[in-house]
Amino acid sequence: MSPAKTIKPTPAASQVAGLPLPATLYWDGEAVMILDQRLLPGKTLYMACRDMRQVIYCIKTLAVRGAPAIGVAAAMGISLAAEGLSAKTPAAFRRQLKAKIETMRKARPTAVNLGWACDRILALVALAPGDIETMRRMIRRTSQLMLDEDIAVNQAIGQNGAKLIRKKKATVLTHCNAGSLATGGYGTALAPVWAAVQAGKQIAVIADETRPLLQGARLTAWECVAMGVPVRVAVDSAVGVIMSRGMVDLVIVGADRIAANGDVANKVGTFNVALQAARHGVPFYVAAPLSTVDLDTISGKDIPIEERDPGEVTAFGTCRVAARGAGALNFAFDVTPADLVSAIITEKGVLRPPYGESLAKAKALAKK
Ligand code: MRU
Repeated sequence: MSPAKTIKPTPAASQVAGLPLPATLYWDGEAVMILDQRLLPGKTLYMACRDMRQVIYCIKTLAVRGAPAIGVAAAMGISLAAEGLSAKTPAAFRRQLKAKIETMRKARPTAVNLGWACDRILALVALAPGDIETMRRMIRRTSQLMLDEDIAVNQAIGQNGAKLIRKKKATVLTHCNAGSLATGGYGTALAPVWAAVQAGKQIAVIADETRPLLQGARLTAWECVAMGVPVRVAVDSAVGVIMSRGMVDLVIVGADRIAANGDVANKVGTFNVALQAARHGVPFYVAAPLSTVDLDTISGKDIPIEERDPGEVTAFGTCRVAARGAGALNFAFDVTPADLVSAIITEKGVLRPPYGESLAKAKALAKK
């Protein structure tokens, strides 16, 4: 797999959804521009991806990460693949594209938005009556539509979630990064924070640092600083002492996949936060688009949990910290059981238990 060329941001990428934050990804002519999140907060640079392999490289290495952003990147990557196919007939084109889509589907296992994006393009191509060029154009247009839809959905999540922040002054604890960077733009878990601030509330954020790749310290803190929202970074294991001192009004986290029964897969450590929240009577909210809800997955036990390179745990960045000879466990995600989730904030409203019913109803509504 070859890394894509890194270039400086263009003016078009300098803000998204009216926020002073850079675009996570966008089309620039024939290239998919992906903000390289591995370099943040030090550098704001984009990779220009010109073929699907480069997009897959970005997804696997977490240059682009966060469930909704992975979904949009996948659709754009598939569009690049469609451009490169040599098929001479529509049937051959569909066959070759299907093989590419199945390769894309395997890039990361936990975020269901990846499979959701693949299925959406597959369905589009299956129904498309047109010739090869028409199909190519439709795929590209759909990938852009998915980006635009994601931003609109996230803004709705923000409005719905802001209603749960009842006090004029509140502190929100979050884990990992489910902000603008993790999506097409605006964010999921951070969206209610932005919306509440825009409505005149004073919101402070506590960002768990999120070992081992520090999405909280590097990305959430960076977004909050850019947005002018006061933020403090805490080590993941401090959540108990912080909550026991009454310093948190509510928790909002994102999700990589929500099973039909309301079990939630999210960045490893989320389950610990939920347990502490239950112990201390702090509401624990999950903010996610309905594309993250997977009714085909019955419960959290059925969610595939990504295991990553042990080297991410034995080192801190490039500096080895674990004793030589020690192995490591590197589960990238964990599952929070539904009974620890106070509510799920979606674009169609705030869903409450029993989640088996509320999720199914909201998904049916979203299909209309
Ligand atoms: O490994 P990552 O950085 O892709 O993990 C991201 C998360 O766990 C996010 O909380 C989740 O994808 C929701 S993003 C809106």
